[in-house]
Amino acid sequence: MRHHTTFRQLEIFESIARLGSFTRAADELYLTQPTISMQMKKLTDMVGVPLVEQVGKRLFLTDAGRELAQTCREVFGLMDRFTMSVAEQQGLKKGRLALAAVSTASYFAPRLLGEFSKLYPGVEVSLKVTNREQLLASLADNLADLYILGQPPEDIDVVAKSFMCNPLVVLAAPDHPLAGQKEIPLARLAGEAWLVREEGSGTRAAVERLFAEEGLEFRPRMALGSNEAIKQAILAGLGIAVMSTHSLTLNSPDQFAILKAKGFPICRQWYAVYPAGSQLSSVTRTFLDYLLSQDRALTSCPNA
Ligand code: PGA
Repeated sequence: MRHHTTFRQLEIFESIARLGSFTRAADELYLTQPTISMQMKKLTDMVGVPLVEQVGKRLFLTDAGRELAQTCREVFGLMDRFTMSVAEQQGLKKGRLALAAVSTASYFAPRLLGEFSKLYPGVEVSLKVTNREQLLASLADNLADLYILGQPPEDIDVVAKSFMCNPLVVLAAPDHPLAGQKEIPLARLAGEAWLVREEGSGTRAAVERLFAEEGLEFRPRMALGSNEAIKQAILAGLGIAVMSTHSLTLNSPDQFAILKAKGFPICRQWYAVYPAGSQLSSVTRTFLDYLLSQDRALTSCPNA
């Protein structure tokens, strides 16, 4: 009976050549030793010259064996590239993208996702919005594909790519006495009624850090659980707050006063982050490339 070389035989041979043993190749491929021996015999018959030589307990490749091993590596390399490219195309046709973003990023992340969805309508996207602390917890548990936040974590090993500026400014009601004044020292502001986000918020941490760096005490009047609640409280005359200009995306420019305080705007960046060493899916990689290639028209800072 005439034999044909099969992919399986090449796989078996490659494993034997690499591991230098029939037994180990059998283990690696979950095959029995007789199966391995039989397939090797068929392959050798097909090639017409010996591929391996047994000297004592050791196995050596013949010249033809070495050449075939090299051919196998090339064939498998080509096959791997082919399967990867098919998977990539399939992934973009019907993949999933789970994004996690800090609350302040919710002012622009949906728009970016929307644009991306138009380009790749088959990809199912989801966006989980939490504050920074909760986002870092889900990063530690590897719950999403990509995380958007205002400052990369220090205690988790991640890859962080900045893709857009994130200026933090001091917001006040338009009729606030300090509105319109220039170069207001932070010390002067320290005595104001401050509104802050809840514990665990990245924005709050940034303000606290600034005051600490200046050696000033920061004693907020009230903590509120969302940027929107803070904006309402400012308009109700309850105080002033540090906020990202992104949180003003849907507000008309004269609705709030941006106080011209020294040390402001705090120039932060938005980062897309994923755990170091994680293998990004083709969908995630495509979204990340899309984020990083955003032109300024889409990502420029409002009111900066
Ligand atoms: P936050 O984070 O929405 O939790 O305040 C914003 C940031 O990290 O800049």
